[in-house]
This record gives sequence, C-alpha cells and structure tokens, in this order.
Amino acid sequence: MAYAAFRSIGAYAPKKILTNDDLAKMVDTSDEWITKRTGIKERHIAAENETTSDMGVAAAKLAIERSGINVTEIDMLICATISPDYFCMPSTATIIANKLGLPGVTAFDISAACTGFVYILSIAKAFIESGMKKNILIVGAERLSAITDYSDRGTCILFGDGAGAALISATDNKEEAIIDVHTGADGTYADLLMTPNGGTGSPHDALEGEANACFMQMKGNETFKVAVRTLTKDVVDILADNDIAAEHVQHFIPHQANYRIIKAVGDALNMKDEQVVLTVGKYGNTSGASIPMAMNDVYESGKLQAGDLMLLDAFGGGLTWGSALVPFSPLK
Ligand code: ACO
Repeated sequence: MAYAAFRSIGAYAPKKILTNDDLAKMVDTSDEWITKRTGIKERHIAAENETTSDMGVAAAKLAIERSGINVTEIDMLICATISPDYFCMPSTATIIANKLGLPGVTAFDISAACTGFVYILSIAKAFIESGMKKNILIVGAERLSAITDYSDRGTCILFGDGAGAALISATDNKEEAIIDVHTGADGTYADLLMTPNGGTGSPHDALEGEANACFMQMKGNETFKVAVRTLTKDVVDILADNDIAAEHVQHFIPHQANYRIIKAVGDALNMKDEQVVLTVGKYGNTSGASIPMAMNDVYESGKLQAGDLMLLDAFGGGLTWGSALVPFSPLK
C-alpha cells in the first residue's frame, strides 16, 4: 500500500501591510481593542492587480523548490479558497496549474473556508493511498481583502491575504506517512459565517441595494464560542484515536483566527507555549492559507525538523472543521 508523506512547505505574504492604526482611521476601533480581543497587530494586503492565483503560485514555487520533486512529476493540484480569481469558473487551481506550467494535471478547488487546507490534505492523502496519484500540490490561497467590508468593524479587523502550499507524495515507508486526518461539517450553523453574493440561495435581484452582499458577514461572538468548542474536540479526538499524547506533538498549528481562541484550545490540551504556533498577530486570519502560512513560518525559523510531529486544527464557515497528525518528511 502507498502512504502519503508531507514533503515540503512554502508560503507567500503580499508586501503591503495594514496595521491596526490604519484600520482605526477607517472604522471606530483602536489598536488596543483589536490587540486585546484578537491578538492581531497587522495583516498583509494584496496589491491591486495581485490575484489569489498569483499568491498561490508564489507559495507553490517555494514548496516545489524545497520538495526535491521535479515539477513534471506533479500529477494533481488542489486549491482551497473562498476568494477565488473567478467565482464559479474557471477554478483557481486550473489557473495556478497553468501559471506553473503543469498542463494536463488534475486540478480543482474546494470550498471549506478556514478548514480548507485540512480538507485538501485529506483529499491528497486519500488519492495517494488509493494509488491514483503520486505527487500532489495542495495550495491554500486567499485574497480576503476582496470580500471584506471595510466599513464593518466586526469583520474588517480580522482578515488578511496570503497563500501557503505543500507537496504531498507517495512513499512506501510508513514512518514518513501522514498519520491521520479528520474532517467534518455541520450546516445547521451556516448562518454564522456567510457571503450571500448572488448565489442561487440569494440571487443578485433579491440582493439589489444590499451593498455588503458580496462581503463576508459573521456573527463573531457566537462563532467564537463554537470555534473553541469544536477546535478542542477536534484535537482531543484525533489524539485519542491515534493513541498519541499531546506532549509528543512538536508543533501545534491551529487555524489562526484569534489569539484568545488558540490560547483556550492550547490550555485545554495542556500545551506548552513552545508547542503552539502563533502567527495571527502578523497575518490576521487568512482562512484557507492560515495553517500553511503558519507552518512555513516554523520552517523558515529553522524549528521544523525532519520527523517532527505537527498537529493541525481548523475551523471555519460552513461550519467545517478538521484536524491532522502530520510528521514532517522532507526528501532533502
Ligand atoms: N473595535 C471596537 N469595538 C468593537 C469592534 C472593533 N473592531 N468590533 C466589535 N466591537 C464592539 C461591539 O460592537 C460590542 O459593543 P457593545 O458591547 O457596545 O455592543 C463589543 O465590542 C463586543 O462585541 P463582541 O462581538 O461580543 O466582541 P468579541 O469579544 O466577541 O470579539 C471578534 C469580536 C474578535 C470578532 C470575536 O468574536 C471573534 O474572533 N470571533 C471568531 C471569529 C472566527 O473565529 N471566525 C472563524 C473563521 S472565519 C472563516 O471561516 C472565514
């Protein structure tokens, strides 16, 4: 049987930075309020002509370069995004594949909001274990600034832009393999996080006059409570299912939405500060890109070593959730 190994990570954050003080000039808020309630100090914002796929390509190039796998060996590309280059079609994955010079590879997007990266990791694992594919590029890329209402202080303080990518490849060495990925969803909470935006559930005609229909709308406080509950259960379950103690995890990499959410989950698991990866302060919430961007920070700091066990934990609109136990298994 083939196993799926996590070979490499890459990420990209656009140059422009939007600070809390910048936001305080746009809406009734302050650096003090945002820092205290979220832990966010700044977020990166894409340039005017920079698309989600451009950022995905930049992250993917790094992941490929670091993987030890030739670009021509990639046989599938999956992109997780809720801010695609084009709504409906073509998928952002096909655009990224084209820009990378990968004609003919299977390419598609998935929509699972902030859990997107864990979802595409589970899909890549399944395709490799089934023997259908050998080298899969997974990309989480978001230009959330394009769907953020900068007159709504409840949401605009949270979100940023960026991308992360990873190369997952087949191995027959079980020691290198991704141990487990859990995913789930519950549509009864669909209204907590929503972008009406003229889909068939809310056609354009019905939304006429609602200027904010194309932006993310969120019931922040309710989302917060469900997030803490769900993220904690996610990791407790996956650790128990695999008989692994939290202390054996080198890097706990949760979705970066809010420092207080991450702290609550880390404390519930008795995680030490040095186990918990925190990048929300500098990137804000980048949805499907947040976990791979955080992982890339650990990699670039030199702290991600071959064989280290990463525990991923995500939660997002849908509602969706997911967790994963992933040893870092570089080829070089
Ligand atoms: N600046 C100042 N005051 C504010 C701001 C702001 N930016 N935003 C809200 N407030 C005010 C509110 O109006 C309210 O005032 P009131 O008491 O006079 O009515 C007060 O602050 C408290 O508001 P809450 O919404 O209860 O604030 P809370 O402590 O919950 O923080 C926040 C809000 C940061 C949005 C938090 O709820 C949160 O992080 N929620 C979770 C977000 C999340 O995890 N999303 C998940 C995934 S996102 C995805 O999938 C795309």
